[in-house]
Amino acid sequence: MLYVEILGNLPEMARDELKAVLELSGGEITGQDYLFLKVNADERAFPFLDRLGLSHEYGELLVEANSIDELLEKAKEIDWPIKGTFKVDTETMANCRHDVLDLPRKLGAVVHARGFRVNLSKPNTLVRVYCGEKLYAGVRLRFFDPKGFENRKAHHRPFFRPISLHPRISRALVNLTKARKELLDPMMGAGGILMEAGLLGLKVYGVDIKPEMVEGAEMNLRYYGVKDFELKLGDATRLSEVFPGKKFEAVATDPPYGTSATLAGRERNELYRKILEGVYDVLKPGGRLAIAFPASFDGEWEAERAGFRLAGKYYQRVHKSLERYFYVFEKGG
Ligand SMILES: C[S@@+](CC[C@H](N)C(=O)[O-])C[C@H]1O[C@@H](n2cnc3c(N)ncnc32)[C@H](O)[C@@H]1O
Repeated sequence: MLYVEILGNLPEMARDELKAVLELSGGEITGQDYLFLKVNADERAFPFLDRLGLSHEYGELLVEANSIDELLEKAKEIDWPIKGTFKVDTETMANCRHDVLDLPRKLGAVVHARGFRVNLSKPNTLVRVYCGEKLYAGVRLRFFDPKGFENRKAHHRPFFRPISLHPRISRALVNLTKARKELLDPMMGAGGILMEAGLLGLKVYGVDIKPEMVEGAEMNLRYYGVKDFELKLGDATRLSEVFPGKKFEAVATDPPYGTSATLAGRERNELYRKILEGVYDVLKPGGRLAIAFPASFDGEWEAERAGFRLAGKYYQRVHKSLERYFYVFEKGG
């Protein structure tokens, strides 16, 4: 059994991102306690879990208990998969119902009694305890270092445009499409979504209506080491002309939200409708589209009108004048 700790700012999107990557690897979510998710999967899921954008860490889940005493009793029976030294580290979630103040010391003593050495400053293995409705203990296998994502934020890129999504969100959009081989962003801007998809080893296709974006996105992709890409100058509402005969497995995009500069002179809602129709045309049956729309546009209704089925919808308030939804749509197969 594994656990995944998701991030708290878009928890439903984070959970569905996890569900999507598990569907690719044959695993499943079997329980949730606030931001702590229990996952039924084995090591074959690791390369897929490594893709996650909206998670904090994953690990091996070893003990689940209703009280501190039960946790400590069970911990005595565990074959702790500890390599080298260890440290106990507690995560007290907002719904924690137990008094865990002294738990690192007590659990540390139990694990130490099984023959492992403690090292508080540089442990080789981190024993993680989560406190929510219940208590859980396991060992951390992978921590998603925020630095990797921070280094790809808009202002660190050689070609800078302030219109970009946070790289963690771009990564989640890619994962929500369940892409295995390839991904298209038909309004790629500076290429933020394509960078995240390319770093996962997907072949990426990008389109933008502005020549400077096509040049800039290429600069950014190269800078971050993405090599397998095809970028074109073109119109997202005419994709079957931009890629004649090509059908895509997955599409993720972040259309402009309304300034005349980024809308290239079009009426906004009309542009969104045409994008939905255009993407529907170039998606393979069963393929998915992950897309952001401002809350004032009824993306669900419009996408259903274009033929899509809703697979997910997540609200985000960006600031006072921008509220949006991230949607995941599926083309019937
Ligand atoms: C919000 S930006 C995308 C940002 C991108 N996701 C990123 O993270 O860097 C939207 C982009 O859509 C482009 N665009 C606007 N109308 C378009 C159209 N009809 N076809 C293709 N691209 C278009 C704009 O030039 C702009 O670069």
